[in-house]
Amino acid sequence: MFLPTKFLLTLTLLLTSFSNPVLARKKPASSPYAPTYVKCPSNLTVRAATDGLSPEEQAWRTLRLSEVVKSLQSYLQTANISDLNVTSYLAKVNASNAPVAGLAISGGGSQSGMTGLGIWQAFDARYPPAVKAGTGGLTQCLSYLTGLSGGGFNMVLPVASNNFSSLADLRAAVDFTSSYLLGPSGNATSYFYKLFGLTATKLEKGFPVSVTDVFGQFFRQFLPASWAFKDVSDIATSEAFAKGLAPMPIVLLSEVVPGVSPQIGEIPYPDINSSTVYEETPFEFGSWLGGRVQAFIPTKYLGTSMSKGRPAKKRQCVNGFDKVTFAQGSTGNAFNFWFIDSFYNIPLFTKRDIPIPTKNENDTLVMLVEGVNSTFGQTFNASMWATYPNPFENYNKNMTNVTELLMVDGSESGETIPIRPLIIPERKVDFIIAYDSSTDEPGNSWVNGTTFRNSYLAAQRLGVPFPVVPDAATFINEDLNRFPTFFGCNASLATPLVLYLPNSPWSAYTNYSYTTSSFTNAQLDLVFENSFNIATYGNGTVANGTNAPPFPTCVACGLIYKSLLRTNQTVPTSCQNCFSTYCWDGKTDEKPAKPAYNPGLLLNPGLSFQKWNSTVWH
Ligand SMILES: *[C@@H]1O[C@H](CO)[C@@H](O)[C@H](O)[C@H]1NC(C)=O
Ligand SMILES: *[C@@H]1O[C@H](CO)[C@@H](O)[C@H](O)[C@H]1NC(C)=O
Ligand SMILES: *[C@@H]1O[C@H](CO)[C@@H](O)[C@H](O)[C@H]1NC(C)=O
Ligand SMILES: *[C@@H]1O[C@H](CO)[C@@H](O)[C@H](O)[C@H]1NC(C)=O
Ligand SMILES: *[C@@H]1O[C@H](CO)[C@@H](O)[C@H](O)[C@H]1NC(C)=O
Ligand SMILES: *[C@@H]1O[C@H](CO)[C@@H](O)[C@H](O)[C@H]1NC(C)=O
Ligand SMILES: *[C@@H]1O[C@H](CO)[C@@H](O)[C@H](O)[C@H]1NC(C)=O
Ligand SMILES: *[C@@H]1O[C@H](CO)[C@@H](O)[C@H](O)[C@H]1NC(C)=O
Ligand SMILES: *[C@@H]1O[C@H](CO)[C@@H](O)[C@H](O)[C@H]1NC(C)=O
Ligand SMILES: *[C@@H]1O[C@H](CO)[C@@H](O)[C@H](O)[C@H]1NC(C)=O
Ligand SMILES: *[C@@H]1O[C@H](CO)[C@@H](O)[C@H](O)[C@H]1NC(C)=O
Ligand SMILES: *[C@@H]1O[C@H](CO)[C@@H](O)[C@H](O)[C@H]1NC(C)=O
Repeated sequence: MFLPTKFLLTLTLLLTSFSNPVLARKKPASSPYAPTYVKCPSNLTVRAATDGLSPEEQAWRTLRLSEVVKSLQSYLQTANISDLNVTSYLAKVNASNAPVAGLAISGGGSQSGMTGLGIWQAFDARYPPAVKAGTGGLTQCLSYLTGLSGGGFNMVLPVASNNFSSLADLRAAVDFTSSYLLGPSGNATSYFYKLFGLTATKLEKGFPVSVTDVFGQFFRQFLPASWAFKDVSDIATSEAFAKGLAPMPIVLLSEVVPGVSPQIGEIPYPDINSSTVYEETPFEFGSWLGGRVQAFIPTKYLGTSMSKGRPAKKRQCVNGFDKVTFAQGSTGNAFNFWFIDSFYNIPLFTKRDIPIPTKNENDTLVMLVEGVNSTFGQTFNASMWATYPNPFENYNKNMTNVTELLMVDGSESGETIPIRPLIIPERKVDFIIAYDSSTDEPGNSWVNGTTFRNSYLAAQRLGVPFPVVPDAATFINEDLNRFPTFFGCNASLATPLVLYLPNSPWSAYTNYSYTTSSFTNAQLDLVFENSFNIATYGNGTVANGTNAPPFPTCVACGLIYKSLLRTNQTVPTSCQNCFSTYCWDGKTDEKPAKPAYNPGLLLNPGLSFQKWNSTVWH
């Protein structure tokens, strides 16, 4: 989960400059951040999830899968499955039965975001070491790329906004080294002045604003300059995506419902057993299954006040509410969790205006929300969320007179790996690569499978097929949180095969704090190299057993497995060996795990964290 103890320490100093609200209220002459009102298209409606995939996604998907078939040709040569006849396999595969694959990058702030970028590269045909290792080319076969929290604001949206480029090109286009808390100039005063000013322009147009408008704009740092003020819906017409040359990006949001959600210290948080999980794609925003609404609105018209599925006012539809930065802020907005963490057991919501306990007055997060509160004249309570005019107002009984959705970090659903969009039966996903850098392991911020198991439990609750996932003790005792492992090898055809990739130390200790806000280029190189080693199983230097098949080949087996079954083709013996080597064998071991999980480097066992930290990392 995403429960921090300390965050944004640097802000303490900065926010004192916001004691003067007049300063913060000054705004730039132009307003690239504010949404605009447009005439409503006559066909703008909320559509029911039971209608299936949108026509836009369906059309895009056909295009994408025909490109995937082309990419498979070279990827399968690279992966070199010894007894697969690629020609005869491809003769039976077309856009209607091709493998559908999704890569899910977990929450975990800059820990999951930066390491997740390394995963993208480790499977990318444009990265020569990945081609050499036999993994390069899988990126070109992905149909979906999902992220939430750090996986959304630091990985999926930056990649999508740079036309799904290679990581090298993304690094050339954006500044991953400067602190996102200070901005590229390093002058925090002018940075905050600008972000508050831009937020003010949105308020002046009549839209609700909140701390998320400011917080989200921190992550503009990770977007190329030309995308600074673009929208998530603009991805739909961006070149690689529109031509079917890239996967569909999806970010996830959770919500709280005042008066309904459980609360601690009167701060609400989502109930993981019944909360609504929203997804935002370049085409649509909404929820498929579970929760209080199962419906969608076009992402381009987010921000529009709707009632009973129709625009409330014909001339007041909205464009530009779906700013990429606002999506980044929304998917990473865990202020409620951060406050619960620091004020636990303090009654807050009994009054509309939350009294801040004196002992917390200098808490940096409190100061950021208070900056929004005092600048924009809201209550503290109202400032804490990502506030969306509710497109589903009066759409169903649960949404009667619900004027706003209060969105929070996607990881608050408990499903910190964004698997949910990939198990929607309509999407027919065959192969899911679930990258977990959720920091849910409490000892040293590695992972212990808890959030992955939560995805399994959610799938069971919703009645959709998903492989069995064991408990955290089994993950630790059986090394499932140490090595990449397949789940669901013997499951039904309708059950996706899942490759679980845990963030784990191969060549670098990538369990740095998820709040790390700046890196040197040398540190980023180390982070990306570790991800490469995770994805390639140590670049072929580590073998699991004497006759273990090479792991990169097995990844390709994972990709084509369901399509082989679907087209009545024999599963190559080498792939069967892969699955018997790298699949979870169903064994559980629930005896209490070691007290503190503290692994060393797989590829350099003598180098302790302390030594590495003081010599290699710093
Ligand atoms: C609504 O109409 C526009 C323009 O005519 C069209 O591009 C769009 O696909 C339509 N949307 C839906 C949901 O039918
Ligand atoms: C692969 O399959 C093709 C078409 O089915 C066949 O012509 C070719 O001989 C096969 N190659 C090998 C090496 O078996
Ligand atoms: C930082 O920005 C503020 C506000 O624009 C300005 O007054 C100040 O001089 C700047 N500081 C430096 C060191 O440039
Ligand atoms: C939605 O409404 C139904 C029927 O009133 C209710 O049973 C259900 O619990 C509601 N769901 C949520 C998430 O509020
Ligand atoms: C908060 O900071 C102010 C100004 O530096 C200081 O006067 C006050 O004592 C601090 N409060 C706490 C609880 O530390
Ligand atoms: C929030 O802002 C209002 C209006 O500016 C102010 O009266 C109130 O004290 C502020 N509340 C907090 C908790 O800062
Ligand atoms: C919803 O709002 C309408 C109009 O303000 C009001 O007439 C109605 O009673 C409200 N319904 C509920 C359930 O609060
Ligand atoms: C696994 O992580 C969860 C969530 O952080 C924690 O509650 C649990 O104690 C951990 N279990 C083990 C065996 O490490
Ligand atoms: C992977 O291993 C090969 C040798 O098998 C080596 O040439 C290559 O440099 C290695 N790549 C990386 C990124 O370590
Ligand atoms: C092989 O895999 C098993 C199960 O994941 C694990 O326990 C073992 O440590 C692995 N060994 C090597 C050398 O990778
Ligand atoms: C595969 O075999 C099954 C049963 O033998 C048959 O129903 C199905 O039509 C076959 N599919 C293809 C694509 O040949
Ligand atoms: C790592 O090294 C840096 C610089 O020497 C030091 O400040 C930091 O405390 C170390 N981190 C840990 C967790 O030991």
